[in-house]
Amino acid sequence: MRIAIIGAGRVGRTLGGRLAAAGHAVTYGVRVPNDPKHAGIGSVAGIREAVAGAEVAFLTTSWAGAQGALEAAGDLSGRVLVDATNPIGPGMVLTHGTTDSGAEQVARWSPGARVVKAFNTIGMEVMANPQFANGRSVLWLSGDDAAACESVAGLGRELGFEPVRLGPLARARFQEPAALLWITATATMGREFSWGVLRR
Ligand SMILES: NC(=O)c1ccc[n+]([C@@H]2O[C@H](COP(=O)([O-])OP(=O)(O)OC[C@H]3O[C@@H](n4cnc5c(N)ncnc54)[C@H](OP(=O)(O)O)[C@@H]3O)[C@@H](O)[C@H]2O)c1
Repeated sequence: MRIAIIGAGRVGRTLGGRLAAAGHAVTYGVRVPNDPKHAGIGSVAGIREAVAGAEVAFLTTSWAGAQGALEAAGDLSGRVLVDATNPIGPGMVLTHGTTDSGAEQVARWSPGARVVKAFNTIGMEVMANPQFANGRSVLWLSGDDAAACESVAGLGRELGFEPVRLGPLARARFQEPAALLWITATATMGREFSWGVLRR
């Protein structure tokens, strides 16, 4: 699959590296493609060029940079857009509460894009390796487009996750606070843990 990673920070490089290792054609879309800090990570282009040929684009920028990055991407209508960001503002508070979400804001900034919220509730160490002695990390997903969710769930399965679809994109209103819970728990648990599901 042709995949664009918007933003080549810690999350972007981790997911991009794993997707490339799984055989996907990954292009990073960044602000300054010839910046030496991107040397050696693989195919790098401007954001618009990176998303132009991509079937799936991952948004992995800081929240402060999300709107600008999506403006730079241009028309994403019909494209699967995975929102891995967390709308965290100064003071570690969510800028969107339980009556709205960053993911829904991303969808408003990208009219027609098939937005799927995923990968935001786990640390990059878990993105790098979702396998634990007692099971696989859950990958929570929400989105209004069932086929887009299934595409992202499929990528998640390839990377070793257990995808769990929560429902429409508005469920991201609860995925994003869950990211803060994960971050809060790192204070006592470190970063090598994830969400798992116990079922009867
Ligand atoms: N770190 C984690 O474990 C983790 C886990 C789950 C979710 N997240 C979320 O994932 C997102 C990225 O986190 P991170 O840890 O990867 O952050 P990071 O290492 O600081 O990377 C952020 C990236 O965003 C890019 N960026 C900022 N503004 C931009 C713009 N206007 N256009 C294009 N690119 C822009 C930066 O590019 P430049 O190099 O050009 O500045 C940088 O590469 C955040 O929303 C975070 O909440 C993080």
